[in-house]
Amino acid sequence: MTNAALQFTEADRLGRVAAVDTSRVLISVEEHQHMTTIAVGNLVAIQGRTTNEFLIGLVEKASRTVTEKLLIDETDEGGNIPTGETQEDFIKIVLIGTYRTIDGNASNTFKRGADSFPQVDRDCFQVSGPNLQRFMNLLSAKVKEGERLTLGHFIADESAIAIANGDKFFQRHAAILGSTGSGKSWAVALMLERAAALKAPNLIVFDMHGEYSTLCQGTTPTAEQYRIAGPGDLDAPDDHCLFLPYWLLNREEMLAMILDRSDDNAPNQAARFTEHVRALKEKTLTGLGKQDVLPTFTVDSPIPYSISDLLSLLHTDNIQRVDGAKAGTDKAGPWYDKLTRFIVRMNAKIDDRRCGFMFQPPQTCLAYDWLNTLLAQLFSAGDGKKGVKIIDFSEVPSDILPIVTGVLARLLYSVQFWMEPSSRHPLTIVCDEAHLYLPVRDAAEAAEKRALESFERIAKEGRKYGVSLLVVSQRPSDVSRTILSQCNNFLVLRLTNDQDQNVVKRLMPESMGGLTDILPLLDTGEALLLGDSILLPTRIRLDKPTIEPASATRQFWTEWATQEPKVDAVSKAVEALRRQTR
Ligand SMILES: Nc1ncnc2c1ncn2[C@@H]1O[C@H](COP(=O)(O)OP(=O)(O)O)[C@@H](O)[C@H]1O
Ligand SMILES: [Mg+2]
Repeated sequence: MTNAALQFTEADRLGRVAAVDTSRVLISVEEHQHMTTIAVGNLVAIQGRTTNEFLIGLVEKASRTVTEKLLIDETDEGGNIPTGETQEDFIKIVLIGTYRTIDGNASNTFKRGADSFPQVDRDCFQVSGPNLQRFMNLLSAKVKEGERLTLGHFIADESAIAIANGDKFFQRHAAILGSTGSGKSWAVALMLERAAALKAPNLIVFDMHGEYSTLCQGTTPTAEQYRIAGPGDLDAPDDHCLFLPYWLLNREEMLAMILDRSDDNAPNQAARFTEHVRALKEKTLTGLGKQDVLPTFTVDSPIPYSISDLLSLLHTDNIQRVDGAKAGTDKAGPWYDKLTRFIVRMNAKIDDRRCGFMFQPPQTCLAYDWLNTLLAQLFSAGDGKKGVKIIDFSEVPSDILPIVTGVLARLLYSVQFWMEPSSRHPLTIVCDEAHLYLPVRDAAEAAEKRALESFERIAKEGRKYGVSLLVVSQRPSDVSRTILSQCNNFLVLRLTNDQDQNVVKRLMPESMGGLTDILPLLDTGEALLLGDSILLPTRIRLDKPTIEPASATRQFWTEWATQEPKVDAVSKAVEALRRQTR
């Protein structure tokens, strides 16, 4: 067949099959100079059962053994036996797919998985040059036009464009992993840019360092900018400020922030808190005449109430005295002085301006309908608003960061969950620096556990409701295993730490484990894409995003060499530190 993607000549022949295992094949390489052109990760094709069929594999290991042996036949007259060297070259292959020049009515087909085991002595060819180019293009062409997510170029052949299946990539959670400086933020910016080009994307980025704000600036921004209100925003918040008032928190989230579980009175404090919050929410509903909500709401339902009312109810409990046994006497009530510490802790949170986005929201945030406005803003594009939304969390104090991300993720998920199925528009939450708020469960504190629950629920059930996660982290070994193990696609950049590499290795199917050996060697912006969004696990050079995130690596030496010292920079920074606003 002349239009076959793979057409081999004798020059492409590497050797023959020497041994076959379940997923690995050992090839004996006859021409020793071939060994110099083989690299781990190269593609090879092994002749299948018919001339139309080739089993496609990746080189996992190349080895050479040199043995010395006595050449008895060549014993000289003095009885000396000369020694000779023999050299045996082997390459180990992982089988990953089957290519057919003709398959029924179709031609040039490739599918994952080896349909048959190769037979011993079958020829094995190197896939390189024009063969590689045609094969790579064949892989990309398999992705339907509308599903294409163009990421960059294949390292194996720079002329072939690497295209992933966008549906599969986002459908069932994905992760972008790599050491710091490996190019994660740029990869995220690239994906956001690709998504922004679609008609109605729906992505919400949890931006921990305000890196992606550049995408929202300039004449052609690709994203909509929001930020969790910082201490400096409280008095005059602008349109980009987001408040997450306390009444959005469910009981567990609120208690994780305020309750000290080691306090002897913790159970009393939690019980009074729950009772009063429920009553206050009921009061709100009654006042508004929400007869349809009243019978079924719970203490966790997001219904506004006044925090000062809550405090005064707790205070009343705390000082309450009841009639004593003898007439005319009184004694401490059931909660007398038991809530003091709880009230103090709560007041401390309320007064802390860094938590102002939660405890000192503008009056408008206490209106019943305000929540609709908030979520409609985050969900819908339209009105010239962009479908990619960046939320800057950089001013959120780190101790409550897990709660805040968790609350927002839970709200977004709940809205999708309760939405009419036909109205659901798929949503991806991009979790930048995920190790900061999605820690491994054993290491998690109370606050972090609450956040984990929200995200783990999305990881497990989100697919059904059209919510997925894109987890981004430099420390995969610190990120919740439950969440990572639900990811179906991994874009792995350079990863230097052993522990992190092992996590990635364990997430891969056993047969792919060997591929992860190249992770520490990847160049900046180079990645291994693994998962069902691409037919072959491939090494890719990622394109640069048009708008770069503000994450540029500082040129220490050059800057030291060239820059003038800035005189009042420090005093300005000190004042900003005092004010807690830039
Ligand atoms: N695809 C790419 N092509 C070329 N250079 C890149 C690419 N991605 C990243 N870089 C370079 O690496 C630097 C660090 O990238 P960044 O995405 O901020 O890393 P990370 O988020 O993993 O810490 C960037 O400032 C840029 O100079
Ligand atoms: Mg980064």
